[in-house]
Amino acid sequence: MYSDLREWLKEVDDFGELKKISGVHWDTEMGPLTQLMHEHYKDRTPALLFDETPDYPKGYRTLYGHFSTLNRIALTLGLPLHTGKVELVRSYLEKLKDFKPIPFQFVKDGPVLENVQMDDEVNVLKFPVPRHHELDGGRYIGTACVVITKDPERDWYNLGTYRSQLYDERTIGLQITGGKHGRIHRDKYFAQGKPMKVAIVVGQDPLIYLLGASPIPEGMSEYDYAGGIKGEAIPVIRGKYTGFPIPASAEIVIEGETVPGEVKEEGPFGEWTGYYCSVAKPRPYVSVKSVVHRNDPILCCAPQHRPIDETVLLKCVTGSAAIWEAVNRADIPEVRGVWQHPAGLGVRFLVVSIKQRYHGHARQVLHVASSASQAAAYNGKWVVVVDEDIDPSDIDQVMWAITTRFDPVDDIDIIKKAWSSGRDPLVLPEHGNYNNRILIDACIPYNRMLGGDFPHVVDVSNQLKKKLMEKWKGLFS
Ligand SMILES: Cc1cc2nc3c(=O)[nH]c(=O)nc-3n(C[C@H](O)[C@H](O)[C@H](O)COP(=O)(O)O)c2cc1C
Repeated sequence: MYSDLREWLKEVDDFGELKKISGVHWDTEMGPLTQLMHEHYKDRTPALLFDETPDYPKGYRTLYGHFSTLNRIALTLGLPLHTGKVELVRSYLEKLKDFKPIPFQFVKDGPVLENVQMDDEVNVLKFPVPRHHELDGGRYIGTACVVITKDPERDWYNLGTYRSQLYDERTIGLQITGGKHGRIHRDKYFAQGKPMKVAIVVGQDPLIYLLGASPIPEGMSEYDYAGGIKGEAIPVIRGKYTGFPIPASAEIVIEGETVPGEVKEEGPFGEWTGYYCSVAKPRPYVSVKSVVHRNDPILCCAPQHRPIDETVLLKCVTGSAAIWEAVNRADIPEVRGVWQHPAGLGVRFLVVSIKQRYHGHARQVLHVASSASQAAAYNGKWVVVVDEDIDPSDIDQVMWAITTRFDPVDDIDIIKKAWSSGRDPLVLPEHGNYNNRILIDACIPYNRMLGGDFPHVVDVSNQLKKKLMEKWKGLFS
């Protein structure tokens, strides 16, 4: 597999999905252009590499839209290209079956050390940090980033994608939602009155970013998970200030510390739900102590906007796999497909298809799928279960099942007071970060299936289909 971001970009370029663009401004041009490209090209949008940014040296680049296509997600995870949605999730799940984490490995040197700034030399503004959306409270250096923190109680380095606002040359804000691993780490340090060290990686191997933005089990380092996926240890060096493992071939790594009680207004920022959900709020910030970067560094960006944005597909693939695995772990048989829909922000519209085997099977799937993995439990909304003849990733088929097999009195359950966050536009802070969920059983009622009295579907039989496709193949080429 590719060893770093530059090799990954070369492969993406080779299969025709990289667009290099010069002269785009860092101030509300790169982010909005990415959104407009997405609205135009949808799931065919190329990755966008911006260079020659006004006010910045040539070669200081920004990368947007890592994961707008299934192909780029497949490449990142070492899976076959040119597959369908559910097929890609299934092949990821297959890969995870034999999965064994491989611990990261310290190496002596790496290209990330080509440029080093310590203490007073530090100037994070040397990079073309964008202001992504028109109503953002400032420039954001960390969006497609990973924030490395260490659990104060054990040897666990977590890598999480949390947005990071740039205030000045040496100060960066962090927004880490309650319940996220980096936040749990920070809460533990602060409860003891201690500062927390952090390393923020803002340009890196796309696999590290993909995993930083995905639900990886508590206590497991995303480094070790990435090693397991690549089949070899991720090479790291010791951070100059934190001593933490930082990727040896990262583009840019910023280190510093965040101190209890020291806060600055953070936000607002255009968020993944497609809204500016919160006003600026005082949040802990990072005082930067060191910056290391490669020559001609690439700053990775993922601003997010109303669907479908360039980050949601990655969450749909990894989230669907995590949910499928959780349902399997609960010993529920005959799951045929899982898909979180990009237009439903991934997590907000989940569909599972099953071959029904017993009374209550569909309801069991709904309850487990909605809660057993963080990928559905955090900020979910709609969960739908359908029969095996429905492709869960085909919204037309799902709508047909809902409109013909679902009864609004009998086939609905509601979960109240589930795990949400201030990112949810319906959440009112005074009521707490809860939301309510809807579970839809759009399967043929099992007793009617057993009784054989549910109407036959109007369709072309496989036998006739084969015959006609052969006889009239010219019509379908
Ligand atoms: C582009 C992008 C930006 C994100 N920004 C944030 C953020 O600012 N704060 C946050 O808590 N989660 C954010 N997330 C979601 C987390 O990265 C995700 O929930 C991840 O699983 C968190 O890692 P953890 O489980 O190790 O805490 C973002 C995800 C993406 C793809």
